Amino acid sequence: MTNKLIKIAPSILSADFTQLGEEVKQAQDAGADWIHIDVMDGQFVPNITMGPLVVEAVKKVANIPLDVHLMTVQPERLIGRFAACGADSITVHVEACTHLHRVLGQIKSADCRAGVALNPHTSATALGEILDMVDIINVMTVNPGFGGQAFIRAMTAKIASLRAMVDRGGSNIDIEVDGGINSETILLAVAAGANVMIAGTCVFGHAGGIAAGIQDLRQAIASLDS
Ligand code: DX5
Ligand code: ZN
Repeated sequence: MTNKLIKIAPSILSADFTQLGEEVKQAQDAGADWIHIDVMDGQFVPNITMGPLVVEAVKKVANIPLDVHLMTVQPERLIGRFAACGADSITVHVEACTHLHRVLGQIKSADCRAGVALNPHTSATALGEILDMVDIINVMTVNPGFGGQAFIRAMTAKIASLRAMVDRGGSNIDIEVDGGINSETILLAVAAGANVMIAGTCVFGHAGGIAAGIQDLRQAIASLDS
């Protein structure tokens, strides 16, 4: 997959919240394709982060899709609110949904793209019977809850399995990789078949600034084409 087809989705979890709007604009101007928003409820994961108000605020400055990742229990209770506040895609965890088919239908009915995230221990086969309902698969390459963790390399086999499943079905489901992406691990993720790179620390925490963070990732991917 060539550089142009790979999307970069900076995660604002690592942004400076005292200047969130400014940082989102910088990411967008530097060529971010989507903005990834990590919602944590203190129950599904130990951390608590953002709610619909933050999505609404980001929507005011962003003109690229907002990719909302719900790391919450009972995500079905939140879908309407996040859709109304400007989410373009909403991703729920398979581990948090007893009735995943119904929840994905709910997301689509709210006019959002429907995503499913898989924790590191969850097999690719969890999605085998439901792929026709899915627009985005998020492969967690860290245990969800915090930014700045190390990429779990064993997840590349799962990404490759999912890529094969998606391609066999001929659909254009996006496969995201989420956690521990930097200019080295991104090469593993692309080679395994992911096409959306979620990156928090290495973009918003880059010593040279946000644009340099995105540029580093693009350069790394470009090296695969040459
Ligand atoms: C982790 C979140 C990730 C996180 C990635 O629970 O889902 O989106 O922000 O951050 P980095 O790139 O720092 O691993
Ligand atoms: Zn995320």
